[in-house]
Amino acid sequence: MTKRIGMLTSGGDCPGLNAAIRGVAKASYQVFGDVEIVGILDGYGGLIDGRYREMDKEEFSGILTIGGTILRTSRRKGETVRQNSGKYMDVFKAMAKNYEKMKLDCLVTIGGDGTHSAAGILQEQGLNIIGLPKTIDNDIWGTDVTFGYQSAVNIATDVLDRVHTTAVSHSRVLIVELMGNTAGWLALSAGIAGGADVILLPEIPYSIGAVAEAINKRYESGKHFSIIAVAEGAKSIGDESESPKGHHYSIGYQLADDLTKEIDIDTRVVVPGHYQRGGAPCPYDRVLATQMGVHATELIEEKRFGRTVAVKGDVITSNLMKDVAGKTKTIPMDAPLLGVGRSIGISFGEV
Ligand code: F6P
Repeated sequence: MTKRIGMLTSGGDCPGLNAAIRGVAKASYQVFGDVEIVGILDGYGGLIDGRYREMDKEEFSGILTIGGTILRTSRRKGETVRQNSGKYMDVFKAMAKNYEKMKLDCLVTIGGDGTHSAAGILQEQGLNIIGLPKTIDNDIWGTDVTFGYQSAVNIATDVLDRVHTTAVSHSRVLIVELMGNTAGWLALSAGIAGGADVILLPEIPYSIGAVAEAINKRYESGKHFSIIAVAEGAKSIGDESESPKGHHYSIGYQLADDLTKEIDIDTRVVVPGHYQRGGAPCPYDRVLATQMGVHATELIEEKRFGRTVAVKGDVITSNLMKDVAGKTKTIPMDAPLLGVGRSIGISFGEV
């Protein structure tokens, strides 16, 4: 009997989504032979509204190296939707109905923490779901790493490398604001790889006085430039309880304003923003996304639904979706990389 597998990508895009889609598809054609893959468009938006199409085998060729997602994505998930009739629609019921209509044997949801929470609810409603963890933030609980993250680290490191030479030439402080939402993984890794002198993370509220002191000390020791990698979710001491400040708020510019009250050094800000999510996946992410895609197919074959693929050490494995839902993997205070940073004199803005 023909196996019907649905696939969607949801939440912010990242490099490696197409590699994962391809991994699931190619492995499924091998394992099941008689298989139809249904591409659901615009993430959960397509599942809610019934926008999907059967894909040709050929569509999964030539996409390994392409950034973004051929299925497109959106941030729509479990919100209630007001219809023309004025009534609110139960989106989870609508999604289950479309799953039935598509006659799916299972649905592969490729996304971040929000995607897995919604997928968990669908699973509870009796749908067969397998999750794949993507995000440049690397903040999904239960997996050492997500695909997309390493590509973003590479891009962010390149930005830091490039501002380094101009900071040196002009004897400036260069602040680079990096993505990561409420987790500091991207800023921490890229900061260390890019030789940042100060790294500010959401997990460690910073003191502006400590940041100024670290920079002044460098100047006193004859180093006439400094590089600061600041995570977009970083907060200063005393600012921690404030609610999220929205898409147009920039901690980088805020930091520059606060810092220039404390130091007398020319300061500039760079915000690479969505540049960090664009372009081709790096080889590591191509391999990881392919491995995870293949593992998703194995879970489908074994009928082990309700699971999210994960990597632990060298092993590709999976967690129960309900264990992943609603959690965020932030940097623990005993993370070895924090110790490494401190050992080489990086300031985390601590008092
Ligand atoms: O989750 C990935 C991410 O790029 C975060 O790092 C960032 O906070 C957010 O998405 C940006 O969201 P949007 O694409 O909706 O602007």
